[in-house]
Amino acid sequence: MIKPHGSEVLNPLLVEDAQLHQQLLAEAEALPSLLLNSAAAANAVMLGAGYFNPLSGYMNLADALSVSETLHTAEGLFWPVPVLNLVEDVTAIAGASRIALRDPNTEGNPVMAIMDVAAIESVSDEQVQSMAQQIFATVDPEHPGVATFTNLGRNVVSGDIQVLSLSYFQADFPDTFRTAVEIRNEIAERGWNKVVAFQTRNPMHRAHEELCHMAMERLGADGIVVHMLLGKLKKGDIPASVRDDCIRKMVELYFPENSVMVTGYGFDMLYAGPREAVLHAVFRQNMGCTHLIVGRDHAGVGDYYGAFDAQTIFADKVPAGSLDIEIFNADHTAYSKKLDRVVMMNEAEGHTKEDFILLSGTKVRQMLGDGIAPPPEFSRPEVAQILMDFYQLENA
Ligand code: ADX
Repeated sequence: MIKPHGSEVLNPLLVEDAQLHQQLLAEAEALPSLLLNSAAAANAVMLGAGYFNPLSGYMNLADALSVSETLHTAEGLFWPVPVLNLVEDVTAIAGASRIALRDPNTEGNPVMAIMDVAAIESVSDEQVQSMAQQIFATVDPEHPGVATFTNLGRNVVSGDIQVLSLSYFQADFPDTFRTAVEIRNEIAERGWNKVVAFQTRNPMHRAHEELCHMAMERLGADGIVVHMLLGKLKKGDIPASVRDDCIRKMVELYFPENSVMVTGYGFDMLYAGPREAVLHAVFRQNMGCTHLIVGRDHAGVGDYYGAFDAQTIFADKVPAGSLDIEIFNADHTAYSKKLDRVVMMNEAEGHTKEDFILLSGTKVRQMLGDGIAPPPEFSRPEVAQILMDFYQLENA
């Protein structure tokens, strides 16, 4: 099976041993505590679940700057996006060497992790701006990822963590949330060798569905792991539970039995386009996938990235041998009225733009809000129905 990134075996930071877990929870009650922001909590979930292997905790400022600039930590580990615990106010933990980290996204703010504080460093506005530019390729405050990142605080609290909870994800998405360890184990149980990961933050429309079919066929893969984002999104994006229902319905009706694992992970969307695509590749390797589909405007938002920047970064910025996972590059897929099927547009000979059914996200949202189903060439009717029900309730 494909090895995890940076180590021989996966090392999730979640404490599984029940006795130790109890002991640490009891200890945490007496420790100075820090209420995490959502981004830092999402990092804890990813570290706990093994997705951010081989990291052992939150990065310090030197690593964060180095990762932003060079895609490597100061010690030379390949890593595309800083994994930070940025904090506004550190007075409650001043001088502490061991602290409890609390979950901002669960009622009562329970302890998520214990941290051995290695350093508390202040980061300047200039450094934050420069990291934002490198990660997001823009410092426009209108960019949702930039807006979040630049407002997280100016203290970098770094150090190793022991994770005690994966936040609300297991409770809210019991059938869908999976750790990297669980996905690895299931891939092994199924006896799959060539496994394609599909990243998504959307209900899957025909374009998404066909990308998966095409990747399966062209790679001769044993299966697909649909891996949906379950964490926070920007306003206007569709809630995870609705996307989950859409995806499950589509898989049930339009994929051969036992060819798809429907799963999800607990991370907030960064909208960092190319950099996020590389992070996606790292954690799909950690969960045991051999390939990741990267299509048009992967992890993008607005017009900040070129349509295929998230593909070219792998050739331009990822040194050979940095990752074992391979990228399945896909061109823009759309329904061809001429051929009566979804195709990659660059493979459709003799077509003009008018020969395709192309709908923008905004247009589709508008239609759904008005109770109009998107055409079956764009969205499976059963998926469209789930979306229409959701939008009708939203607008009621
Ligand atoms: S993402 O932010 O998670 O990338 P989305 O769920 O829409 O957004 O996309 C999931 C994957 O499908 C990404 O790899 C994206 O590039 C790809 N994709 C989505 N729509 C298309 C399309 N029409 N043509 C080609 N690739 C697409």
